Amino acid sequence: MADVTAHYQELLAEVYSWLAGGADARIAENRAFFAANGIAPRGCANAVDLGCGPGFQSIPLAEAGFAVTAIDLSAELLAELKTHGGGLNIITVQDDLLNFAAHVPARLELAVCMGDTLTHLAGFGDVERLLREVHGRLEPGGKLVLTFRNLTPETPYADRFIPLRSDENMVFSCFLEFEGDHAIVHDLLYTRGAAGWELKKSFYKKLRISPSWVMLVLESIPFRTASLREERGLATIIAEK
Ligand SMILES: C[S@@+](CC[C@H](N)C(=O)[O-])C[C@H]1O[C@@H](n2cnc3c(N)ncnc32)[C@H](O)[C@@H]1O
Repeated sequence: MADVTAHYQELLAEVYSWLAGGADARIAENRAFFAANGIAPRGCANAVDLGCGPGFQSIPLAEAGFAVTAIDLSAELLAELKTHGGGLNIITVQDDLLNFAAHVPARLELAVCMGDTLTHLAGFGDVERLLREVHGRLEPGGKLVLTFRNLTPETPYADRFIPLRSDENMVFSCFLEFEGDHAIVHDLLYTRGAAGWELKKSFYKKLRISPSWVMLVLESIPFRTASLREERGLATIIAEK
């Protein structure tokens, strides 16, 4: 089975920004999200972006005045972040986000784990450990922002074939299988080559995380406040220490 690192290396990283609708659009969207939710430096201004990808969150956070440590396993996506975020206060680290504490300053004002990164973790124990360790590093009043897809409802039959993006040269779709605590995501990428259409395929596991379970964990740690919003299967949680 392809693990997460291999999946991004072999298939997803090279088309990630295209698939997301372009880096500029996603950076602008997150700039608006942070502004609308009052996320701007007020304390030590240290932030960590857990599973930063090409920097769709790191870049607007650094523009807003945070000193960002951006952590990801994918060398390709970190290279993209460096290209887009040149000149901004962002340190990139290629490592497992579960090791974040080794790479960040003693105190953080903000931790973000957005764009469905949380579901890439191997198990619920890892999610819980991450949330506890983030709480341990946040300063009082510091915030944690999570956005992830709620994969707990099982998508039925043909609805598990999901067209994601296409243009005249590439067609990207995925197929979901459900196995207990995991969804198996099969990504299918057709690219137009000299000899016709070529198919690249690869799969990886995503954790089926219930947003209400995350809220219970945050409460038990305890974060002082936490809010949950769910829209079209995408959960957004903002918690404050
Ligand atoms: C769906 S992307 C989200 C990227 C970005 N936050 C966004 O909103 O577009 C998930 C990212 O998490 C990274 N990732 C997955 N598991 C990871 C881990 N254990 N440690 C570090 N990065 C990880 C992947 O390489 C990928 O860049």
